[in-house]
Amino acid sequence: MAVSRTFSIIKPDATRRNLTGAVTKMLEEAGLRVVASKRLLLTEEQAGGFYEVHKERPFYGELVEFMTSGPVVVQVLEGEDAVKRNRDVMGATNPADADEGTIRKAFAESIEANTVHGSDSDENAATEIAFFFNDDEIVG
Ligand code: PPS
Repeated sequence: MAVSRTFSIIKPDATRRNLTGAVTKMLEEAGLRVVASKRLLLTEEQAGGFYEVHKERPFYGELVEFMTSGPVVVQVLEGEDAVKRNRDVMGATNPADADEGTIRKAFAESIEANTVHGSDSDENAATEIAFFFNDDEIVG
């Protein structure tokens, strides 16, 4: 399996509880390497743009409000089959459905405050990485 990249966000519920290191440790133990990272307070425009694809969904406004409610850590992760590897260790969107050993099972509070975001395809990973990072900020 080829080495590839994915995009991750450690969400405000996690930074608020000082879990950045604990979440990153689980990502690293899953075989992913952090090749870019920055801590940001998203503007409404950034969060709204990032989640544009969900604009018509009933939770869009709340999701944008939540994602701007505190710092996030945006990361580029590298590893074999990175998108799948990351989604496997993240666990299900709703923590009530998340398997043991996943980040959301360990830390998520709700379907909204669910600790991490991860790209769902290689194509979306490329778009999401480019949304937050220039090429020279990614050091593999
Ligand atoms: S779903 O319900 O499985 O289709 O959800 P999904 O498409 O994976 O979710 C997309 C993102 O929306 C967030 N989400 C919600 N936020 C607030 N309230 C509700 N009810 C809700 N449902 C889903 C979910 O955490 C996903 O965030 P990201 O950052 O993409 O993981």
